[in-house]
Amino acid sequence: MSGRFLSLLFFATALHAGELADPLVANDGTKIATAAQWRDHRRPELIELFTREMYGRNPGRPEKMIFEVFDRDTKALEGKATRIQIALFPGGKPGPRIDLLVYVPSGVQAPVPAILGLNFWGNHAIHKDPGIRLTESWIEGRTSYADLTGVRDHKATDAARGVNANHWPVEEIISRGYALATMYREDVAADHEPYFGSGVHPLFPQLQQGDDNFSTIGAWAWSLSRALDALEKEPLIDSKRVAVFGFSRLGKAALWAGASDERFAMVLSNESGAGGAKLFHRGVGESIERLTTVFPHWYARSFKKYAGKDKELPFDQHLVISLVAPRPVYVGSAQEDTYADAEGEFAAAKAAEPVFRLLGAEGLPADTWPAVGVSVQGGIGYHVRPGKHDVLPFDWQQYLLFGDKHLKPR
Ligand code: GCU
Repeated sequence: MSGRFLSLLFFATALHAGELADPLVANDGTKIATAAQWRDHRRPELIELFTREMYGRNPGRPEKMIFEVFDRDTKALEGKATRIQIALFPGGKPGPRIDLLVYVPSGVQAPVPAILGLNFWGNHAIHKDPGIRLTESWIEGRTSYADLTGVRDHKATDAARGVNANHWPVEEIISRGYALATMYREDVAADHEPYFGSGVHPLFPQLQQGDDNFSTIGAWAWSLSRALDALEKEPLIDSKRVAVFGFSRLGKAALWAGASDERFAMVLSNESGAGGAKLFHRGVGESIERLTTVFPHWYARSFKKYAGKDKELPFDQHLVISLVAPRPVYVGSAQEDTYADAEGEFAAAKAAEPVFRLLGAEGLPADTWPAVGVSVQGGIGYHVRPGKHDVLPFDWQQYLLFGDKHLKPR
């Protein structure tokens, strides 16, 4: 009998519908009782499980990858920041190019902690700063979060500068002593048809062959690791204190990046919802069926077989959160974000707690779902704030406090 069949059999016999897999019980039934067992056995098997069944394989760090710093302005944002722009060429030049935009607070003595995240509408959309290079990648034409009238024929124009600044409080982040680094999702991977047709996917056709194909969320997560490779070379940034942040689909990517790449010091998930921080097992909010049909490119093809089986799924997203342990992770939810099932995001974070405790980290200091507008912050942080699916000042305030708690020297 193959190992794979055996493990499926184990899942089938050990779990009842609606029951969550225990993060501290290995696939073969072994109880995980020590940090060494977690590190050597359970963590690698979970990474392999999620790689095979959900996020797909990725190419690791490509040998031919090069970075080019093409801008360094020490007087950016009226002197408040140094703006650095780095072009990442994952397959060497010429080839797909990903622009990494970085703001570092001015006048800092030591290397600073950073927050790194993908953006939805281009680096130029996060701030009006005219020095930001306009992306040449495709941009979607419509959204309720930004005024995209400055986007012509799916291309950026100067009029699109700063249109998504509401999601990115750059001045506040740098005034709190953090660098901010960001990249545009479509520079990395196409989030529109033809899927896998632009960005980095054409560099790796062999990774599209199997059911565990290099997915779009997989590529976004992978690009965050590549950005961290670049930040490791930047002396103004302390690459050991980089938090990975993302909203919604980009939060799904941030969570997997933080789970799979232990160099990230922290994960900030803003309403990542289905396939992010929420549990599928509750059967509430966006289903696997919807996720894998409306967005067939986001996850590996292997994940599609679980459509309609949300409550029987042999794994769930609490295990992804547990892979961040003992590093801190914050799950931010919104009350009216019904797809993302705020309570299901809390339940997932809570179910990851035993791993944090086993590894000597703080858990999630709330036994029941916290009241709306209350932030709880241990090794795991959580809030559900009033309002819709969005990134609001309240969210950033909690993330920065959580960063201060864990990433700032005391
Ligand atoms: C859709 C999708 C969500 C996703 C969201 C987003 O609403 O159903 O899963 O999080 O898009 O990325 O904005």
